Amino acid sequence: MKTIALKMDQENIDYNKIMIAGAVIKAGGLVAFPTETVYGLGGDALNPTSSTKIYSAKGRPSDNPLIIHIAKIEDLDKIADEISEVAYQLARAFWPGPLTMVFRKKAIVPKETTGGLDTVAVRMPNHKVAIAFIKEAGGYVAAPSANVSGKPSPTLARHVIADMDGKIDMIIDSGAVEIGLESTIIDLSEPGKAPMILRPGYITKKMLEEVVGEIDTDPTIGNYENVIDLEHQGSEKLIPKAPGMKYKHYAPRAELMIVKGTQENVITYINAQAEAKCRGGKKIGVIATEETFMRYLVDVVKNVGARDDEEAIAKHLYAVLREFDDLDVDFIYSEEFETPRIGQAIMNRLIRAAGHQIVRV
Ligand code: TXA
Ligand code: MG
Repeated sequence: MKTIALKMDQENIDYNKIMIAGAVIKAGGLVAFPTETVYGLGGDALNPTSSTKIYSAKGRPSDNPLIIHIAKIEDLDKIADEISEVAYQLARAFWPGPLTMVFRKKAIVPKETTGGLDTVAVRMPNHKVAIAFIKEAGGYVAAPSANVSGKPSPTLARHVIADMDGKIDMIIDSGAVEIGLESTIIDLSEPGKAPMILRPGYITKKMLEEVVGEIDTDPTIGNYENVIDLEHQGSEKLIPKAPGMKYKHYAPRAELMIVKGTQENVITYINAQAEAKCRGGKKIGVIATEETFMRYLVDVVKNVGARDDEEAIAKHLYAVLREFDDLDVDFIYSEEFETPRIGQAIMNRLIRAAGHQIVRV
């Protein structure tokens, strides 16, 4: 299949191109498109064949459900059941934006889209191109992140091309995304219970609680050592409620290790380890910050931004992980990013990219 790339600026939407992209979705094809979080791989959410195609383009396990993207709050009611007042409050406060809500699904939503579940995840992205495209595509676009399963999510169109060229019909290229981490997911499928965060993201627990009061968090989040990947899945461990959170994810090809400790200890440890590995003929990379990157004596050092600029760290993380792949790095060390607001989301992704390898020094 030849994949067509269309360029489009958020501030200058080309409705002819949007109509072409919408027609591809209505005909059962796949179109990758930008959102404010990461690029999505879109198909008609109400067409089971389209969802099946998404799984095969990504190489994604079929028990891992897709998020349905809508363009207006009024469209929620057609696909979601038992929508509580709390859900509407959250939708009014955070949509369009990086918040995904899980509801009981209506019969119109095929099981192929929800990975066999009776619930459905829905979000309205804050991106003008995405909104125009979703409307033109019929209003319900199922879209996981547009990466091959297991790889870092795409934050640039070129990441999508690297993973999806020849496998999908079209890519809408609107340049770099704004946020760079996937949406916060919150479970509202049991209206009697407090809403529960299933995946941390840009919208934090505190921001949600300011709108609707008490929010729970899936106990597998933040409990870093207990987050599971498939290899380590054991009956005694907690299983995350968002099926995707149990898979190893966001991973570069190289082995990745996170190093925790005081700045001086971290730098000394990484330089010593890197030197030993280098002598063994390995190519070493480091994920560092503005404050530290000059101090590493290794093959490739990536500066993700200043330590207190968590937006920059979130935005650059996935691109940096992919750059190490392009440079054939064998082993990556990363500093830890315990930033105050979205630090939990950043570390949740990084720890899973590292397959839970963390060393304290
Ligand atoms: O920011 C985002 O959310 C991006 C953009 C493209 O919108 N999308 C995204 O999709 O990250 P994906 O497929 O890569 O991750 C979706 C996550 C998975 O962990 C999946 O298990 C979970 O959402 N999920 C989807 N439907 C669910 C449901 N009904 N119940 C629980 N978890 C669900
Ligand atoms: Mg994903």
